[in-house]
Amino acid sequence: MEQYAIKGGKALEGEVTIAGAKNAALGILAAAVMTDDECIIENVPDVSDTRTLLKAIENIGATVKYIDKHTVSICGGSIVSDGNLCVDDEYIRKIRASYYLLGALLGKYKYSQVALPGGCDIGSRPIDQHIKGFEALGAKVSMVNGGKITAKADRLIGNHIYLDVVSVGATINIMMAAALGEGKTTIENAAKEPHIVDVANFLNTMGANIKGAGTDVIRVRGVSRLHGAEYSIIPDQIEAGTFMTMAVATRGNILIKNVIPKHLEAISSKLSEIGATVIEYDDSVRVMADGVLKPTQIKTLPYPGFPTDMQAQMAATLALSEGTSIITESIFENRFRYVAELIRMGADIRVEGNSAIIKGVPKFSGANVQASDLRAGAALVIAALAAEGISIIDDIKYIKRGYEDFDEKIRAVGGEIEIVDTEKDIQKFKLRVG
Ligand code: UD1
Repeated sequence: MEQYAIKGGKALEGEVTIAGAKNAALGILAAAVMTDDECIIENVPDVSDTRTLLKAIENIGATVKYIDKHTVSICGGSIVSDGNLCVDDEYIRKIRASYYLLGALLGKYKYSQVALPGGCDIGSRPIDQHIKGFEALGAKVSMVNGGKITAKADRLIGNHIYLDVVSVGATINIMMAAALGEGKTTIENAAKEPHIVDVANFLNTMGANIKGAGTDVIRVRGVSRLHGAEYSIIPDQIEAGTFMTMAVATRGNILIKNVIPKHLEAISSKLSEIGATVIEYDDSVRVMADGVLKPTQIKTLPYPGFPTDMQAQMAATLALSEGTSIITESIFENRFRYVAELIRMGADIRVEGNSAIIKGVPKFSGANVQASDLRAGAALVIAALAAEGISIIDDIKYIKRGYEDFDEKIRAVGGEIEIVDTEKDIQKFKLRVG
């Protein structure tokens, strides 16, 4: 089983280029099957979640071709829909974003059946708001054997939908189904994340009529068909944020290229508050820190608040500040499982309900730790890079779901990290790094 071997204790310096946004890609790749024409999607991050979704898209009959590492051609015209289209294979249950195929196929064929979503185990993640939205458009939604959801409609008719919780997934899913519905749909209390805007822009490039994405009211006027499009995905806000915190935790200096600084504001302002320097350019940010970091308080919130997907990386950073910080997780339960692993590296963190009370320590020491989900894994990598000595991180399959060439990018900024597979590899790494 692959692991990361990391020798920490070095300030990371250099440049890194951020890939396309994983969460935007998952919505956009699913939306691409909503036309029978070819769509060419650029800046697709080469991570296991996008590869998994593309496999599932191929398995329902769409034609998927990689033009290069980051450009994919998808043609939904070869899907045979006989009213029985079912998305269920070894791939789809691995990722939660499989639910985007529910909305996309429901919009196009007025029928979809998709195996229940998987994904990182970060607490109970219901999909009641997705279902509420589909039902408001006139679909009948039912659960069938084997944990599959079926959504079916004679016609999808526009409606007024108020989301009881701000949900990224439900907003995108309802937007997709309504795009090929009849009449006007209004989604109120919609999520405003940058990738919602990106999926809406892509659908509009395909001929949809969606207004207001990025605000809390989205208006969709249904169209009868969508056409092919070429589209380039926005940069990944969370990958960028991860390298930003990595620069700070290691007291380094990294130029993070191919970003939209506006999308990073919540992260930049917290890092500045704790004593780092963040310089924004048009499409890059430089993040540096030296000396003592100050503590702070953070509460995760829907965009433009502080992202839950940056909570663990920020905790690893604050655990090396001077003083006590509090992080409150308000989006997901069960998102503090990395805490036990950080404690093994010397962190002083106590979890109380949905808050983590973090007492800064001067340093971490290397340890053998285990990634419990994607962002928890990223936090452990950051901690290991800042720690004195060698760490071994298990279960890096979670990290590979969302970070493209993570080890390579970290080496490019001077980090000592290698993928190891056996005890012999670990010994070799230890000999090499001394
Ligand atoms: C997406 C992101 C994930 C990120 C999360 C919050 C993708 C593929 N994943 O996940 O990385 O952490 O947004 O920014 O884009 N909820 C309900 N009912 C629903 C749907 C959601 O109660 O029908 C709740 C969830 O349990 C959670 C909150 O709403 O407490 C937000 O979830 P949501 O925004 O839907 O997250 P995802 O789309 O799953």
